[in-house]
Amino acid sequence: MKFEVRPGAVNTVVTDAVVIAVFEGDGGLAGAAAELDAALGGIIKDLINSGEVKGKLNEIHVMHTLGKMPARLALVAGMGKQAEWDTDKLRDVAGEAVRALRRHRARSAAFALPAGGERIPGRDDFSRAMAEGCLLGAYQYKRHMTKDENGPETGEIVLLENDTAAFGVVEKGFERGRITAGAVIMARDMVNEPANHMTPSHMAEKAREVASRHNLGITVMDRTQMEIEKMGALLGVSQGTSEPPSFIILEYRGDPSAKQTVGLVGKGLTFDSGGISLKPQEFMSDMKGDMAGGAAVIAAMDAIAAMRLPVNVTALIPATENLPGGRALKPGDVLKASNGKTIEVVNTDAEGRLILADALSYAVKNGLSPVVDLATLTGACHVALGDLYAGLFSNDNELAGRLVKAADRGGEKLWQLPLPEEYREMNKSDIADIKNSGGRYGGAITAALFLQEFTAETAWAHIDIAGPFMTDKTRGVLVKGATGFGVRTLIRFIEGFADR
Ligand code: BES
Ligand code: MN
Ligand code: ZN
Repeated sequence: MKFEVRPGAVNTVVTDAVVIAVFEGDGGLAGAAAELDAALGGIIKDLINSGEVKGKLNEIHVMHTLGKMPARLALVAGMGKQAEWDTDKLRDVAGEAVRALRRHRARSAAFALPAGGERIPGRDDFSRAMAEGCLLGAYQYKRHMTKDENGPETGEIVLLENDTAAFGVVEKGFERGRITAGAVIMARDMVNEPANHMTPSHMAEKAREVASRHNLGITVMDRTQMEIEKMGALLGVSQGTSEPPSFIILEYRGDPSAKQTVGLVGKGLTFDSGGISLKPQEFMSDMKGDMAGGAAVIAAMDAIAAMRLPVNVTALIPATENLPGGRALKPGDVLKASNGKTIEVVNTDAEGRLILADALSYAVKNGLSPVVDLATLTGACHVALGDLYAGLFSNDNELAGRLVKAADRGGEKLWQLPLPEEYREMNKSDIADIKNSGGRYGGAITAALFLQEFTAETAWAHIDIAGPFMTDKTRGVLVKGATGFGVRTLIRFIEGFADR
């Protein structure tokens, strides 16, 4: 998709389709909406008066212009109530619009949409949201379709902007939006990819592609190297499958003079059957996506490096399958993690925290700080917060605040949950230092408290993405299937470091 900023008016611009905005409950048309209404003989006013166009957020009305102007189609996009409008909503509106454009076979389009009010005022954020919305809304996962029955992609998008002094920032916004969306799409592709394709080795291959694209450091540890590192918890999970595990390390050095290196850790469980504590069939169907945290981290690294952000970042992805093979972990087994702590495995389906125990220990041992991990960790978090919000846990309130802000700017939602000292005893084992499940109640919290045992004094945050990593409906920037959740938050988070 090509993006361009150009001065112009909707009634004269040469393109397949124009997209204009109307607000809910807004009688008077202004700007591009008024120009289009005049060019089409007052039809938009008619549609509003008859109640056919309500201006509700994400509502798209498609009209044919029948030669009254160069564009064959005019799309009226609902923006919701004017007082509630902001640049963040623009992303979703653009996502809806771009799918309508494809359905109506428009190969090019010009958008004349208003920037958002007070909250996110910058013109660069505006064009960034446009690029992200258009690219993410148009996303399709077609790798395994042998024939393509969808319409052609809308290849060229123009943002009509008459303030030519703003072109510079607008273009910078487009560029960052393009990079961000590209990374989200990379993560979606990895998560949508079936487990027989997206194996731990294939995840490592994806990380190698990122490394060679931007000249990053890359190390992929195999079983033997994990044994040398004494990663007993990761090795324990991987012993039930014949698919080789990998521990992926990607290193970006954007600021060689800085002492600090941020650690990003992502759960890379390429298929979670539950192991011997086998999942029921209906809970197993989405478990090819149990590597969504790892995918988000690898994809975010691609964007961080592409933007050349002046920050040092190391990504760690422990990757394995969790299968009930002949050598698989058994409930009751005891493992020793690389920080020396022993773990009683009371449930082999609580495997994410096991592989993260070794990854977090590795992060701490190597002086990474702060450390942020992303994981499809608990069904309990999905139950607590639904599909929209990921759970956020942190031992550092400043870090948590920065992550919430980064998510907000990126268009994702985090909700902080507590790490109460009182619940730590739920993870106590009779025979080892800790057990890997604290039971049903507060399941997302006890899982986070388990992780905390492996973070020592390091500033750390854990993001449980079990709710939002997939979606069952196409809406706004989200397309049914993998969402790429976390990528936008991580990119904005590292951008925040660069701005400090
Ligand atoms: N990968 C799952 C969690 C999950 C569930 C992610 C649904 C996405 C959607 C994780 O490994 C798991 O099985 N967790 C268990 C923990 C329990 C055994 C303590 C769970 O949530 O049931
Ligand atoms: Mn599991
Ligand atoms: Zn899992």
